[in-house]
Amino acid sequence: MDLNRSEALYERAKRVIPGGIPGIRAPENYVRGDYPILLASGAGGRITDVDGNEFVDLLLGYGPIILGHGETKVDAAAAERAREGFCLNLPEPIMIELAEKLVTLVPSAERVLFFKTGSDATTAAVRVARAHTGKSLILRCGYHGWHDWCLEQDPGVPVISPEEVVPFPYNDLDRLASLLKQHSGRVAGIIITPIGHEFDRQIDPPGEGYLAGVRKLADEHNAVLIFDEVRSGFRVHIGGAQALYGVTPDLTALGKALANGYPLTALTGRASIMEASRSTFISSTYFGNGMDMAAALQTLEHLEHSRVLEHIAQLGTDLQREMQGMVEAFGLPVTVSPYPQMPFLHFDADLSQDQDRNRNRFYGALAREGVFAHPRHHGFLCWRHSAADMERVLEACRKACQSI
Ligand SMILES: Cc1ncc(COP(=O)(O)O)c(C=O)c1O
Repeated sequence: MDLNRSEALYERAKRVIPGGIPGIRAPENYVRGDYPILLASGAGGRITDVDGNEFVDLLLGYGPIILGHGETKVDAAAAERAREGFCLNLPEPIMIELAEKLVTLVPSAERVLFFKTGSDATTAAVRVARAHTGKSLILRCGYHGWHDWCLEQDPGVPVISPEEVVPFPYNDLDRLASLLKQHSGRVAGIIITPIGHEFDRQIDPPGEGYLAGVRKLADEHNAVLIFDEVRSGFRVHIGGAQALYGVTPDLTALGKALANGYPLTALTGRASIMEASRSTFISSTYFGNGMDMAAALQTLEHLEHSRVLEHIAQLGTDLQREMQGMVEAFGLPVTVSPYPQMPFLHFDADLSQDQDRNRNRFYGALAREGVFAHPRHHGFLCWRHSAADMERVLEACRKACQSI
């Protein structure tokens, strides 16, 4: 695979951008030498890099592309709003239409606020929880974005006092109960990803009764329960994991699949709690832009009426079964994702250096065979992925298994 243009552009980028490629997209996070560094285009379920190599896209922009790249009706709706002016002094009526749609789709949604990123939505959620309860402590579980309150100690991040935020482990109800007891009367909110999908970990579904148990504990301690469904929303079910598992939180952060790649996220929740957003400060120049809302309405229209999620679940279930068979046949010590919508072969590199090497070899081979998947982040499927795409993925997996 020729990656010359990628490499040349990377050298050029380093002269003007810190590290060349910032954040999670940096080449070190993939397999150096086997993955492209810059992409040129996407169409349907495929992407093409700057050297002309084409890949089945199993990462889909880290999740937002639920329909496919360049989805005509979505892009046309956004373009029409752009033509009419999409960054106006006051909101456009489309904001109300989209909020009404979310209220019909998401069980916890009675009121809606719109944002640009998942980090905006989760940060707004904890602010609203604090404003509503008058308490300050947040118990958090999972990845909620890049803002200070939900990071581990990193350079540049102020020390987060245990009076403000305390992390807790997923699927451990006893630990949560004991934290709530320890901080009795001080917990404003509990924020949790209803599915355990941490970076570089196998995906963990909620244990029997776990989410209902979290709900009960939140109620007992008068804490606002926030589901971070930025990733699971509109994907594992059109109403999110809360609809799939039948547990309704007070607030929900939504993003990614909401607008097929356009930057739009939302905070939804019970009217009485969302009211507290008016007593605090939540604002940005861009929160009211109608263009991304037009894209979201079209995306939701597809999700509701085109059997998108059924298609994804079917492709994913077949893929999951074949992958499971393959890793067993090859005796690979890897875990297959339990969610067909989020395919992943997880190599637990904490186990040994060999696992680390095997993972790089496996994912490097996948990339060379024309499949773009992340070595340490679960994948995604979209409406435009076809059975032929999945065949290509399986053939690449077979070769990747052989390579280790
Ligand atoms: C569960 C979850 N919450 C919050 C975020 C943050 O979203 P963003 O990257 O759009 O700020 C992410 C992003 O991956 C996420 O997966």
